[in-house]
Amino acid sequence: MTSKETLHIDPYEKTWILITAAVLVIFAVAVFVAGFAMGIQVPAPQQRVDPQLVATEWADRTVAPRQIAPGKYEVYIIARAWMFIPNEIRVPVGSEVTFYITAIDYQHGFLLEGTNLNVQVIPGHVSSMTLTFDTPGEFSYICTEYCGTAHMTMAGKLIVETP
Ligand code: CUA
Repeated sequence: MTSKETLHIDPYEKTWILITAAVLVIFAVAVFVAGFAMGIQVPAPQQRVDPQLVATEWADRTVAPRQIAPGKYEVYIIARAWMFIPNEIRVPVGSEVTFYITAIDYQHGFLLEGTNLNVQVIPGHVSSMTLTFDTPGEFSYICTEYCGTAHMTMAGKLIVETP
């Protein structure tokens, strides 16, 4: 018996091994393209908060975007039945905006239309993402998780304005 015989792989099996390996490579490339070229971020829970206290703790922060550096802002949003606080946000064009979103009652969702910001909003957790707004315009945000009678009225708008 030669070593060639002991290593014999059925042609079909060999084909599927190669296809499997190719699929793994394609997936790995897709992850890198999504993460580094397209800027897709995994909406990992940013921090934990007490849903009973967060409305009070964030009362000042939800009034208006907070400028943390030139061109950089933080936006705090509270989701509750059935509204977003605030329901209108204004930032100057060119801003890099980090969103911090939490809920105080039920599970809600937050989708900023026309962007890749689309997260679950869960009481006790803060969902966070950073986006840059290079063109002026209006972006609606809506609740994407059914949360009760007036779910469909949960909306607001982000206005990117020319200073
Ligand atoms: Cu909140 Cu649907």
